[in-house]
Amino acid sequence: MTEPEPDLIHILYMSDSRLDRPSALDQLQTLVETSRRNNAAAQITGALMFTEDNFVQFLEGPAAAVQRLLAKLQVDARHANLRILLESPARGRRFGPWTLAYCGPAEFVRAELDAVAGCGQSGETARARLIDLMVAFAAAAD
Ligand SMILES: Cc1cc2nc3c(=O)[nH]c(=O)nc-3n(C[C@H](O)[C@H](O)[C@H](O)COP(=O)(O)O)c2cc1C
Repeated sequence: MTEPEPDLIHILYMSDSRLDRPSALDQLQTLVETSRRNNAAAQITGALMFTEDNFVQFLEGPAAAVQRLLAKLQVDARHANLRILLESPARGRRFGPWTLAYCGPAEFVRAELDAVAGCGQSGETARARLIDLMVAFAAAAD
């Protein structure tokens, strides 16, 4: 059994991506790595979904920590028009094992597949990136 957490809240929001298209994947990887580190330290767990146009993020944790993160998110220029879809006390965690599960949609993965298909045998970097991505998806879905 996990310990009860009396001041647990969760939020769900959606925003418009302002990541530059050509390097969006790199920017996203950096963002997710930093977020996982920060979230682990702040006892925040959750998931991030990216559709090239939008972000959807679910976050849960101690109220003060989630509010502190929300204040940072509100002024982060990598996205805009943050609208809160849900914000409420939570009885338990939905994403307990994940500091930030990352869910990439099909069209985003397709760009990676195109890179691999277009590179032939010489596309070692593209292939390595694709495999890294698949490992990340597998771990997030685990
Ligand atoms: C869509 C999106 C989701 C983010 N999610 C998180 C997150 O879950 N945790 C986090 O610490 N930062 C997240 N960030 C980054 C924060 O806005 C902020 O840049 C970061 O927390 C600052 O970290 P620092 O105080 O270590 O510099 C996110 C940014 C964007 C654009």
